[in-house]
Amino acid sequence: MRALQVLFGLIPFLYAKRPNIVFILTDDLDVAMGGMTPLEKTRRLLGEAGATFSNAFASTPICCPSRSTILSGRYQHNTKVLNNTVDGNCSSQAWQDNIEPSTIGARLQPLGYKTFYAGKYLNMYGLKRSPGGVGHVPKGWDSWNALVGNSRYYNYSISRNGKEEKHGDDFNKDYLTNLVANDSVAFINSMKADTPFFMIVAPPAPHEPWDSDPKYADLYQNLTAPRDNQQWNIHRADAHWVVRNVPNPMSETSTKWSDNAYRSRWRCLKSVDDLVESIMNALNETQMLDDTYIMFSSDHGYHTGQFSLPYDKRQPYEFDLRIPLLIRGPNVKPNSTIPYPVSTVDFAPTILDLANQNSKKLRFEDTNFDGESFKTLLNGSVDTSWRQNLLIEYHGEGLNDPATVYNCPGLGPGVSECVPDCVCDDASNNTFACVRRQIYSENLNLTDDLVYCEFVDKENFIEVYNLIEDPAQLKNLRGTLDPTMLEDLNMQLIELSSCTGEECSTLDVPPFRVDFDRTHEKEETIQNDHIF
Ligand SMILES: *[C@@H]1O[C@H](CO)[C@@H](O)[C@H](O)[C@H]1NC(C)=O
Ligand SMILES: *[C@@H]1O[C@H](CO)[C@@H](O)[C@H](O)[C@H]1NC(C)=O
Ligand SMILES: *[C@@H]1O[C@H](CO)[C@@H](O)[C@H](O)[C@H]1NC(C)=O
Ligand SMILES: *[C@@H]1O[C@H](CO)[C@@H](O)[C@H](O)[C@H]1NC(C)=O
Ligand SMILES: *[C@@H]1O[C@H](CO)[C@@H](O)[C@H](O)[C@H]1NC(C)=O
Ligand SMILES: *[C@@H]1O[C@H](CO)[C@@H](O)[C@H](O)[C@H]1NC(C)=O
Ligand SMILES: *[C@@H]1O[C@H](CO)[C@@H](O)[C@H](O)[C@H]1NC(C)=O
Ligand SMILES: *[C@@H]1O[C@H](CO)[C@@H](O)[C@H](O)[C@H]1NC(C)=O
Ligand SMILES: *[C@@H]1O[C@H](CO)[C@@H](O)[C@H](O)[C@H]1NC(C)=O
Ligand SMILES: *[C@@H]1O[C@H](CO)[C@@H](O)[C@H](O)[C@H]1NC(C)=O
Repeated sequence: MRALQVLFGLIPFLYAKRPNIVFILTDDLDVAMGGMTPLEKTRRLLGEAGATFSNAFASTPICCPSRSTILSGRYQHNTKVLNNTVDGNCSSQAWQDNIEPSTIGARLQPLGYKTFYAGKYLNMYGLKRSPGGVGHVPKGWDSWNALVGNSRYYNYSISRNGKEEKHGDDFNKDYLTNLVANDSVAFINSMKADTPFFMIVAPPAPHEPWDSDPKYADLYQNLTAPRDNQQWNIHRADAHWVVRNVPNPMSETSTKWSDNAYRSRWRCLKSVDDLVESIMNALNETQMLDDTYIMFSSDHGYHTGQFSLPYDKRQPYEFDLRIPLLIRGPNVKPNSTIPYPVSTVDFAPTILDLANQNSKKLRFEDTNFDGESFKTLLNGSVDTSWRQNLLIEYHGEGLNDPATVYNCPGLGPGVSECVPDCVCDDASNNTFACVRRQIYSENLNLTDDLVYCEFVDKENFIEVYNLIEDPAQLKNLRGTLDPTMLEDLNMQLIELSSCTGEECSTLDVPPFRVDFDRTHEKEETIQNDHIF
């Protein structure tokens, strides 16, 4: 044991200086609905100076499960974090025992990294219901400054290395996005040039309750959720139960609510833009910028009125699945766009790979990640062998007695997120798994772009979209696709849904390309062995 400690202590000196890594993780930030627009400085400082991934996805479109995947590099079926409650393994004993001890901070610390976490961690973290409460400090973090519970801007607690620090609602002392920024800058300023560091900076924005910095509170007064796309306020009769049952047209209450959500999110994002700038300034002033990777992303996307869903995430459509991903740093090609599909499951493997400059193949044998490092793509390389299939998984949340929660008489059990107007964005049977596939040719033409989803509901519902022809996802092809294609997609989903480690990216090459020209224009009964 001692010998091992001595050995680990020596490791930093055996290698050249490792790069610093700063990962900025926003909460609920979409990319498909214009979420990056107010982040002008971020786009300039990270996007123009680095790479933007144009096809980055959340492997599960909900906070706690997604964050658990980001931290661990493992798909939901392996983290076993099913939803945002302790019963669903969000910050549960099983999570703390089985997965948390090998999250990304704990992987980097033994390489000589000083590690820092600030802001939102997991929705249930630090609450009495979560084992250890606010005193629980996950393995792997030298400086732990995590928000207790779900995102807020005022009236919250922080676990400072296991000690509770309470905050009220004085903007100058308590505004959480700024507190996270200030803590991050202080940490950077305390670092010595010869010690590499890793930071996760997790502001609450643009999650509810949307308290903005007073100086931004009057911005965007006339902004509404975008009407100029084909999805807003339309009815999707051929979608699964939740979506085909939301009223259309949307009520005035729902419309006003979602427009308010849209503009309030942008106001909160202005402070995230300031946070990015202060971190960049601190790195610049300490002469550490050239030696540092800065990544910017989100846990999942969002919707405000798309397919008449008032506002939330939790759906298998592009608006909820797509996330921003910007990265700048050594050897990252400036102002470049990388088209290859990547997902939240790839973040931990990539961060470890960036830290582990000297070792090439640490990936599966030693680390057990389900994702894949995208480090080799960062300099603009063409990689025709890049993985083509991503797995998406989601477990719907449903409440037993929604009437008491939402005061909606007649609303059945098994639904949730029924705000406003008793229109529900989620249900227990909104449980699904999908294959999200993109295939690029050598000259980076997108030749195949599809999503195939199976639901665990009374209908074994299926949705499949050809995104080349139908980027707005208005036409479910489930009834018209050649049955052999559906069988093939079903088989791949079965395999991906139980994959572990390397097989999650080697189960790649489809037996044949989906040829949408072979689709039949007639309804067919689809027989499928369900994946769950
Ligand atoms: C929580 O995780 C443990 C082990 O990781 C697993 O046995 C259990 O089934 C999980 N709970 C749920 C609700 O999935
Ligand atoms: C914070 O809590 C105090 C005391 O409960 C309350 O008066 C105040 O309105 C809260 N502030 C915000 C922004 O929620
Ligand atoms: C953050 O630091 C700035 C500059 O020192 C200060 O004005 C502000 O009040 C601080 N905000 C919080 C929430 O600590
Ligand atoms: C918002 O719209 C109103 C009415 O159309 C207009 O008078 C006002 O100038 C607009 N405000 C801004 C900031 O554009
Ligand atoms: C870093 O600081 C220098 C000198 O103040 C400035 O010219 C440069 O624009 C800064 N770079 C960034 C990325 O902020
Ligand atoms: C970045 O690329 C875009 C087009 O791809 C170009 O319009 C813009 O001028 C470039 N910006 C910089 C700073 O090079
Ligand atoms: C990117 O880096 C790899 C490995 O260092 C190298 O083989 C490749 O040629 C580089 N690609 C570009 C476009 O610079
Ligand atoms: C979360 O998952 C657990 C385990 O499956 C389940 O018991 C619980 O009802 C779920 N919570 C919600 C809100 O759906
Ligand atoms: C590939 O893309 C190029 C440039 O975008 C285009 O000229 C060409 O026709 C495309 N090739 C195919 C096979 O689609
Ligand atoms: C989904 O769940 C709701 C609420 O429990 C139920 O009313 C509905 O019939 C279910 N639909 C399907 C397709 O399973």
